[in-house]
Amino acid sequence: MKMAKEKGKKEGKEQGISIDELAAFCKRKGFVFPSGEIYGSLAGFWDFGPVGVELKNNLKRDWWNFFIRARDDMAGIDGSILTHPRVWAASGHVENFSDMSVICKKCKKVSKIDRFEIDKAVCNLCGGELDKKSAKDLNLMFKTQVGPIKENSVESYLRPETAQLIFANFKNIAECSRLKLPFGIGQIGKAFRNEIAPRDFLFRSREFEQMEIEYFIFPDEKCPYKIPDISISVYSAEMQAKGKEAREMKIKEALEEGVVRRDWHAYWLSQCLLWFKSLGCDLGNFRIRQHKKDELAHYSSDCWDIEYKFPFGWKELTGIADRSDYDLKRHEQFSGKDLKIFVEGKGKILPHVVCEPSFGVERAFLVVMLEAYEHDKKRENIVLHLAPNIAPIKAAVFPIVKDEKMIKLSEEIYKELRKEWSASYDERGSIGRRYARADESGTPMCITVDEQSLKDKNVTIRWRDTTEQVRVKISELRDILRKVINEGQNVFKLGRRINTRVK
Ligand code: GAP
Repeated sequence: MKMAKEKGKKEGKEQGISIDELAAFCKRKGFVFPSGEIYGSLAGFWDFGPVGVELKNNLKRDWWNFFIRARDDMAGIDGSILTHPRVWAASGHVENFSDMSVICKKCKKVSKIDRFEIDKAVCNLCGGELDKKSAKDLNLMFKTQVGPIKENSVESYLRPETAQLIFANFKNIAECSRLKLPFGIGQIGKAFRNEIAPRDFLFRSREFEQMEIEYFIFPDEKCPYKIPDISISVYSAEMQAKGKEAREMKIKEALEEGVVRRDWHAYWLSQCLLWFKSLGCDLGNFRIRQHKKDELAHYSSDCWDIEYKFPFGWKELTGIADRSDYDLKRHEQFSGKDLKIFVEGKGKILPHVVCEPSFGVERAFLVVMLEAYEHDKKRENIVLHLAPNIAPIKAAVFPIVKDEKMIKLSEEIYKELRKEWSASYDERGSIGRRYARADESGTPMCITVDEQSLKDKNVTIRWRDTTEQVRVKISELRDILRKVINEGQNVFKLGRRINTRVK
């Protein structure tokens, strides 16, 4: 399988695709539209189009399989978006979940900054000096009223993170899942933040989705898992304080040298990076950066971000915080309920969350798009080298010409493939145009029915990344696609390679 690393990414980046160009491409091809666009749209809200929703769902499903289903130390939940407001008082969000808005002296636009940046930050947009006197601390939670009759209603919040539903349900989940420490609880779902300055396309939105894990251990428990052999650019808090550059290291070495303090962090950072790698991402465009003391969230004692080299600079893609027993303790205090679990031989324990791998779905979406995007000069069209397991459309079926029999056979194949995957059927325009359309939506395989297919019941599969072709039996198509999509097998080992001049 030719992945982004070999074909698209480096070239795409060197050509310098900007985030606005990506947004325009996403709109044109039906990945993402500004929400409410016919009314002028609302900043920070996005709608996913026909191919976008498939890609987003595939990403979420792949994450769930990788981190939850495939592991025997994990359980999943799906918590509600609105919950009891005391959850947000206990979590500290009512008190602490704020950013600062500051007006730029030069361009007069509002910038969002973190509290600790007040003395050094400049305007996000023009780099101008910020007017400190205009600084306001603003809570980012969306308030709403639960119950239509105002006098009887309760004021609550749209959840700003999915994590709290895991903590509030901790005891229920621990008891019914019968998992033993160490174990994790994962969740995928919407989160809402009334961001001061939503920008950079999907990167900072007001409505987005998170994929989060809270990983619970005995306090001070050692990580029993092997740290995979994986190299990455490492940027510790100390390196940042001393003005040093990030350093390429094996995560194992970073742990041995004490750059990464806890074995659990080394382990979870590796797992998260391995997931991005499994999606075809080039880890050369990733780094891990430790939070400096003054930027740690109110609940966190240590935090490493996985950052990605976005077109607008290195930015957070995934955060992995050590939340210790902050949340469970606070929920015990605020609810008056005992959230400890009984562990044979140890008695009652309040576990610690040693790592909270927290992913933004939209940021992962941006990264796989940026990694996949290539302007192929030879083909004169965009090629999205999305890995087959996440590609929105797995196969496009074409009759080579508009012949009744070929159309009929193509439609039969198309119907058959749709039982298992999203597929498309295209009979309009030249074959070259149809290939180009498929390339631009990241469809890895184009299946062509020709004159010969009517006689021998074979078809041609054209592989998106190389344009090379292979001839296979129609009766084996579904099995071949399963091997390519689910197992990442090489299509050229599953059929007879043929020579062709068609691009
Ligand atoms: N439970 C921990 C937590 O919510 P966070 O760093 O605030 O931590 C986790 O958010 C992830 O959620 C981020 O790494 C990012 O991927 C995503 N995220 C946060 N705010 C976002 C926003 N406004 N728009 C899009 N994604 C966002």
